Amino acid sequence: MTGRRKPEVQIAELRRLIEEHNHRYYVLDDPQITDEEYDRLFRELEDLERAHPELAVPNSPTARVGGAPIQGFSPVTHGVPMLSLANAFSDSDIIDFDRRMRERLGIEWLDYCAEPKLDGLAVSLRYERGALVRAATRGDGATGEDVTENVRTIPTVPARLHGACPRDMEVRGEVYMPRSGFVALNQRQQERNLRLFANPRNAAAGSLRQLDPRVTAGRPLKVFFYGLGGVDGVFPDTQYALLGAFADWGLPVNPEVRRVRGVTGCLEYYRVLRDRRRTLDYDIDGVVYKVDRFDRQAQAGFVARAPRWAIAHKFAAEEVHTLVESISVNVGRTGAITPVARVRPVQVGGVTVTNISLHNPQELARKDVRVGDTVSIRRAGDVIPELVRVLTEHRPLDAEPFQFPKACPVCTAPIVREGNGIIARCSGGLFCPAQRKQSILHFASRKAMDIEGLGEKLVDQLVDKGLVHDVADLYLLAAETLAGLERMGPKSAQNLKDAIDASAATELPRFLYALGIPQVGEATALALTRHFGSLEAIADADHERLQEVPDVGPAVAEGVYVFFRQDHNREIIRRLRAAGVSWPPMPRRPGSLPLQGRTVVLTGRLESMTRDEARAGLIALGAKVAGTVSARTDLVVIGAEAGSKAQRAHDLGVRTITEDEFRELLAGRLLSSQ
Ligand code: IVH
Repeated sequence: MTGRRKPEVQIAELRRLIEEHNHRYYVLDDPQITDEEYDRLFRELEDLERAHPELAVPNSPTARVGGAPIQGFSPVTHGVPMLSLANAFSDSDIIDFDRRMRERLGIEWLDYCAEPKLDGLAVSLRYERGALVRAATRGDGATGEDVTENVRTIPTVPARLHGACPRDMEVRGEVYMPRSGFVALNQRQQERNLRLFANPRNAAAGSLRQLDPRVTAGRPLKVFFYGLGGVDGVFPDTQYALLGAFADWGLPVNPEVRRVRGVTGCLEYYRVLRDRRRTLDYDIDGVVYKVDRFDRQAQAGFVARAPRWAIAHKFAAEEVHTLVESISVNVGRTGAITPVARVRPVQVGGVTVTNISLHNPQELARKDVRVGDTVSIRRAGDVIPELVRVLTEHRPLDAEPFQFPKACPVCTAPIVREGNGIIARCSGGLFCPAQRKQSILHFASRKAMDIEGLGEKLVDQLVDKGLVHDVADLYLLAAETLAGLERMGPKSAQNLKDAIDASAATELPRFLYALGIPQVGEATALALTRHFGSLEAIADADHERLQEVPDVGPAVAEGVYVFFRQDHNREIIRRLRAAGVSWPPMPRRPGSLPLQGRTVVLTGRLESMTRDEARAGLIALGAKVAGTVSARTDLVVIGAEAGSKAQRAHDLGVRTITEDEFRELLAGRLLSSQ
């Protein structure tokens, strides 16, 4: 590149070259220049753009490292709604589907485009005259969130398309995190004492919905495109050819896509992919068959929120066999003792499983799990691994039944049984280091005091070294003390110190929840706060007054009452306040719950909690949880891949909120009447 040419020409040429090399490297896996040469081109472009800020464009490859953070995601209305797919779980469902399709279209046999069903996040990207102008999440199907700057950082997403692509179009695809990238990311997170992601799908979702695109840029995201939204221009007349054209234009397409003939072709494809599933570097939860010809798709039309011409054929939850190497017990925050089977590490449903909780002594006895047993374990979607059964035919002759310990393995205090023997509990209370560690971790957790960076490894060290006995000690730690811990440099020590200090300015419901009072979850903490208005009033209330709070029954009242009658608890609170923990006053609203008398519907998949947790949270706020949306519905919480209920809410003008807003609502920061 010579300095004599005009800067705009040089910049344009560099951008084109870099995009081409990006494509060769990330999409075609066939780089033509060395990393050093690439870096040189990149730096040259960066220098020129810096020298000529007037020539900056959002589409430049330099934007892939991520621009400045944003305040929030703005809504994007999809030109053509993003639909969901009907699910099938058996061969006969697919045979029926094919028969219905042929009858409707009046033909003997059909070609299908068969594709892997990726377990990631759906996105819609708008290209105008070949340039990427906007990217949005699926949201509720009608409206998503603008994630353009984040999507730009994904290396395989072309900023410009090549070839004869339609003038303007929306292309749809799935953003995902390869398993290898997921493992590396979690390793990094662990080293930095940051939260681990449960699975690649959650990691992809968390990475894409970052307010700071620089964070997204550092995450190993990829994308495969599988369809069109709105389009203005000419495009091929079959799905299979369209995906071929996508590849020609530079859009990554899954290499496993095939055109198959008839239902036998579909079922064969299913089996091949199911058996190869574990060898792929990304999670798929099934395959999708789409009537290949677009004219026939148009003839078949839609039902509710899904096309009639396509169907997802889901894989059964993966089940694998492994060996129980040992059985031990964990001591939780409240002393509850959970038996855990440690197994030879296996991959199941996209994650490596090494421990499986057996929940309680009864469950362990019922399944009669023994060291040396071969067991079958299952993990479906986001669900935690489950031990399905013991393969007793493989049991070694000398395998002994597990003897449940009588004393806490950590503090040696006697283990007591509650609830008809179902719950085993360490009687050591806060003298038990395991309970202390758990209560500190709970105190620091995101929904409690939210002390970023205070993870398990650090808490272990702090307690084991005698630096922290209880949560109040956290606020007295000096940065120098923290810097003396393993894996802690002066900078991360200072960051942690800052995070601890920052957490002191809190809100009463968070603080109350952070204390770890038995039976008091987020929603109850909020209800107590709203009813009594102050910590003193809650601490002084007797059983009767406590039960005036909506949804507080005798068990919760007892938990709260006993907690505040213990001198050491009051002492810890006094020391926390002396160390600067404070909250703004909360208005008292006795008797009324934020969602009192309202009817709420949950739809779609929630990322951060289970359906049961969501339902419990809503009930605790006074809501009635209904299954269907009607004109009498007050609020609909829309999770991922929400379908007809979201549409119905939309049609009826019922208020909808996203999962994030729902979490705010549960935490008392979003008013229900907003
Ligand atoms: S087609 C109108 N193809 O599955 C057709 N979807 O349940 C709608 N998905 O939201 C989608 N791989 O996130 C299609 N090859 C594929 C897919 C796929 C994954 C996801 C997508 C969509 C959901 C529908």
